[in-house]
Amino acid sequence: MILVTGGAGFIGANFVLDWLSVCNEPVLNVDKLTYAGNLATLKSLQGSEKHIFARVDICDRAALDSLLAEHKPRAVVHFAAESHVDRSIDGPADFVQTNVVGTFTLLEAVRAYWGALPVAEKSAFRMLAVSTDEVFGSLGPQDPQFSETTPYAPNSPYSATKAASDHLVRAYHHTYGLPTLTTNCSNNYGPYHFPEKLIPLMITNALAGKTLPIYGDGQNVRDWLYVTDHCSAIRQVLERGTPGETYNVGGWNEKTNLEVVHTLCDLLDELKPKAEGSYRDQMTFIKDRPGHDRRYAIDARKLERELGWRPAETFETGLKKTVQWYLDNQPWVNDVTSGEYRKWVGQHYA
Ligand code: NAD
Ligand code: TYD
Repeated sequence: MILVTGGAGFIGANFVLDWLSVCNEPVLNVDKLTYAGNLATLKSLQGSEKHIFARVDICDRAALDSLLAEHKPRAVVHFAAESHVDRSIDGPADFVQTNVVGTFTLLEAVRAYWGALPVAEKSAFRMLAVSTDEVFGSLGPQDPQFSETTPYAPNSPYSATKAASDHLVRAYHHTYGLPTLTTNCSNNYGPYHFPEKLIPLMITNALAGKTLPIYGDGQNVRDWLYVTDHCSAIRQVLERGTPGETYNVGGWNEKTNLEVVHTLCDLLDELKPKAEGSYRDQMTFIKDRPGHDRRYAIDARKLERELGWRPAETFETGLKKTVQWYLDNQPWVNDVTSGEYRKWVGQHYA
């Protein structure tokens, strides 16, 4: 079996669903269930012997040791993190705790477990750490995309703690020989995305008749990847990547935030027209995020060249699927927006 951390969050849960749809190997899902973890996303796996869930904090070494000893995974895929830049600006402590101390604790537990494995299992074992392009900092309009050799220059508490996590993973390979792999991916979007991030927030606010808050001038650029394409990239790297290597994952879809929101409004106008006017009428420009990175862009040629991976979705097909998913899954959205999230949004936009 494989052990997945953070498998109740957006990408982790999509990965678990995707994994079990393409292979029979069981998943041990280790998640603390913070505000971002939602077991409703995994409802279709209820009763499945292939999915074992453990509510555990990755900072809890004793709990990790006993899970590893009991379930004996052949690989670990590490998603668990605090992941929202705005929250990291409002309160960085949780980010240091989970993204730095948590990754360190997990690495220590995995190192002890891996070190005691029989030779064949030891050499086949892999630990894949899921990271972000944000560790590379911000690009100017004409700069080349981030490659695997771009120096780290994180600018937010989120990206700084992810960078620290990546450095620890690198050091555990270099120093102890732990067979680690790292993926640095661009912005994901798709089903089950928590409505605090740009795309799901705009869809849910639009449908609720609320304003669509665009930071600054809306000209910041992100490189968007449909979440199942990220999942397929992780599967490829896990099975065929070279230990110690890092792989950039991206969708070749650079868009300004304004382009993203316009496209979302146009899709909603087509799929769920308002009685009067366009969803674009709800757009509003608000104060910029402090330290807001201007542009992210990923050069994903290494992954294509070495492992033959390319994204299956274009931005247009992926975004249409996403909007349709939110229209078809309002109960999932309503469950999320009626909880903790609502209180935080109240404070954040006060
Ligand atoms: P998310 O915030 O939706 O989910 C994070 C999950 O981790 C949640 O289920 C949460 O309960 C769990 N978690 C948090 N702290 C924990 C702890 N201490 N112990 C155990 N579980 C804990 O995040 P996501 O968007 O699914 O991102 C997953 C990973 O992918 C993160 O490492 C993130 O940095 C990385 N990433 C995200 C994106 C993106 O666009 N969302 C892009 C590139 C990389
Ligand atoms: P986000 O989804 O938070 O991802 P990240 O900051 O990790 O890239 O934001 C994506 C972009 O959208 C980013 O440039 C900030 C911007 N943004 C808004 O303009 N308004 C919003 O309400 C949010 C959440 C983000």
